[in-house]
Amino acid sequence: MFDRPGIGSRAVLVHMPLAGPDQEDLDEFRLLSLSAGAEAVATLAGRLRAVDPRFYIGQGKLEELAETVKVHEADLVLFNHALTPSQERNLEKALNIRVVDRNGLILDIFAQRARSFEGRLQVELAQLKHLSTRLVRGWTHLERQKGGIGLRGPGETQLETDKRLLANRIRQIQKRLQQVEVQRDQGRQARRRAQVPVVGLVGYTNAGKSTLFNALTRADVYAADQLFATLDPTLRRLSAGGLDMVLADTVGFIRHLPHELVAAFRSTLQESAEADLLLHVVDATDERMDETIAEVRQVLAEIGADRIPCVEVYNKVDGLDGVVPHVERNASGRPARVWISARSGAGLDLLKGLLEEVLGGGVERRILTLTAGQGQLRARLYREARILWDEPDGEGGWRLSVEFPASARALRRAIGDAPERADCEDLLTVSPR
Ligand code: GTP
Repeated sequence: MFDRPGIGSRAVLVHMPLAGPDQEDLDEFRLLSLSAGAEAVATLAGRLRAVDPRFYIGQGKLEELAETVKVHEADLVLFNHALTPSQERNLEKALNIRVVDRNGLILDIFAQRARSFEGRLQVELAQLKHLSTRLVRGWTHLERQKGGIGLRGPGETQLETDKRLLANRIRQIQKRLQQVEVQRDQGRQARRRAQVPVVGLVGYTNAGKSTLFNALTRADVYAADQLFATLDPTLRRLSAGGLDMVLADTVGFIRHLPHELVAAFRSTLQESAEADLLLHVVDATDERMDETIAEVRQVLAEIGADRIPCVEVYNKVDGLDGVVPHVERNASGRPARVWISARSGAGLDLLKGLLEEVLGGGVERRILTLTAGQGQLRARLYREARILWDEPDGEGGWRLSVEFPASARALRRAIGDAPERADCEDLLTVSPR
């Protein structure tokens, strides 16, 4: 859409961070360039002692880069750093080739992945804002669209016209986005009226959200070994143990997301901010798992989603030695983590049971008297329920108070159904078998 060449296919990657902590990752950069559809033909990696104000890299490196571009017949240079507009321009002039910085690359991927009307508007908005800081040449596309001739006021330079058109377009998109927001709100209200709980899938990019979404709903959502396979919240119905719910897939998080993109894409997470339950999908094979978990949590807190119950889904257990699908509970017995493989389907039954448990309504509390012969049942209660207190009854048996999810039907059958009572502190004696 701009009067600049599009993303080419043969790219030279430049990864030259300043010495110090908080570095972008070269592997992630490779994945990003792959996601954008570029073929990395060469990589220039190293450390910078200081940023050159004109070219970002120093003169020696620039010459090396020019040589690399020539040797590999590249048609694109990707920088894993934010470049100033003038650095980008100077590099393009010096190399006579298209140069894209990290922000531009991420925007390009977003643009390719945006599927819904709203997503496309958001991407365009972010692109226009990115572009408005770099505007030096003609904005011919918009001019043509608006008729061009006659639009330009007397004495107004081309650049001023371009900036005005750009500002108009930005306003127009913002207005349309507000309208879309209203429509989405109406959809949300309709769902709330129907009392269908919403489960939001959130997580770091490439954690396996789309794969899990497909596995749970058997929907054909695009999943690929690429970053940002999903951009817009995608909604599908799901049934777990007879309980209907809506599953919402969202855009993946990324390390050091450029500031202007955080703002632009926050609304794609809005569905999650109003979910009844969040499933935070984590790639359990990722060595930087803890860092990514912290980052996702932080963004969730920023959009006010940290008040929503959240279960962490540790995905890709098929890639971990000696780990089988299982559920971990917190001190109060609520499920906190589930270990699964979305790809192989292992543990999906656990996850579904957990959805049913959390959304299926409340906990049940019972006081039980067990005889000496019911040690096995007592052990099972220790595994599957929360024990509030447990004391010997003086006759070789026990009296204990237990709490378990109302939806845990198998457990309830094992201890025997008690009549439902409003005060829920039932006294139930289980007779020996
Ligand atoms: P974004 O849309 O970029 O946010 O990614 P995502 O979180 O939706 O990830 P996606 O489902 O696209 O999966 C990313 C990659 O991980 C794909 O190559 C999947 O095949 C792979 N993957 C997903 N689940 C599993 C799993 O359980 N085990 C293994 N080994 N790979 C998996």
